[in-house]
Amino acid sequence: MIPTGRSAPAGSPSARGDTPVLELDNVTLDLGGRTILRDTSFVVNQGEFIGVLGPNGAGKTTLMRAVLGLLPAAGGVMRVLGQTIERGNASIGYMPQTRSALAGRRVRGRDFVAMAADGHRWGLPHADAKTRADVDRVLELVGGTNLAKRPLSELSGGERQRLLLAQCLLGNPRLLLLDEPLISLDPHHQKSVVELVRRVQQELGIAVLFSAHELNPLLNSIDRVLYLGSGVAALGTVDEVITRPVLSRLYGSPIDVMRVNGRIFVMSGGVEVEKHDHEHEHDEDGGHTHSHSHSHSHPNPHDLRDGHTHDV
Ligand SMILES: Nc1ncnc2c1ncn2[C@@H]1O[C@H](COP(=O)(O)OP(=O)(O)O)[C@@H](O)[C@H]1O
Ligand SMILES: [Mg+2]
Repeated sequence: MIPTGRSAPAGSPSARGDTPVLELDNVTLDLGGRTILRDTSFVVNQGEFIGVLGPNGAGKTTLMRAVLGLLPAAGGVMRVLGQTIERGNASIGYMPQTRSALAGRRVRGRDFVAMAADGHRWGLPHADAKTRADVDRVLELVGGTNLAKRPLSELSGGERQRLLLAQCLLGNPRLLLLDEPLISLDPHHQKSVVELVRRVQQELGIAVLFSAHELNPLLNSIDRVLYLGSGVAALGTVDEVITRPVLSRLYGSPIDVMRVNGRIFVMSGGVEVEKHDHEHEHDEDGGHTHSHSHSHSHPNPHDLRDGHTHDV
């Protein structure tokens, strides 16, 4: 592929087509005196759903922040739709990793989505007609119209995820950066969130970087995987990347890859790697303090019913 369109403004028709949605050209990212990513090059094409994997601290969040222009590269060049990185790029939708404090909010679903349309103006009922139409559009896209009137505090984690995805879709971005959307969701909701993102991604023909610390929930939905570790990155199909030699290089220690019943297990010394990552994050279910070693089942009967509506 020949990278073209460097002079095409992002979002213009000429920026569509063959221009990669994201290019890293010998990029180095430093943070707090440490190199997180070293001299890395890869290309993500338009319309690709990329699973971003790697152990805790590998740099998944840092990479997304760099793409957003929140962290300047220490070396190399990054481009989004042919344009060098700038803050506030409307071509990018972002769901940050830290989503705490949402669960206690009484704000209604629709108003919550609308907040992201105009972050500085919280007088939500006064949103202009264009914004209201965009909010309606994204709510419908994510199947969230029925959540519009309900307060966040009454929604399940999966339903809040749906609204967060709607926020990211405001303004028609071409690239979504979704940072750990599966954290603190039970397996059923994980599956429905992945399927929802996949459906929306294909419907809109947009590219998605979806970070996670477990591959299996993403296996059936992703086009390729970007695996980070030890300051390097590997981008390719699951079969190309999830291999003993590639992962041993990324982890800096011998790794075994086991395939069982359509699932893939990445093992180090007979133990599955990164099994306990999500214990670092707390579920945001309305102030519950339950442990992650326990079941994630919700006491609210709504959740059982709503679980079905998540399957799109
Ligand atoms: N603000 C910061 N200052 C210095 N180091 C940081 C900061 N944020 C994260 N780090 C470190 O940078 C590395 C990459 O972190 P991060 O991008 O959050 O990884 P991931 O999202 O893959 O878990 C980690 O070693 C982390 O401790
Ligand atoms: Mg992270």
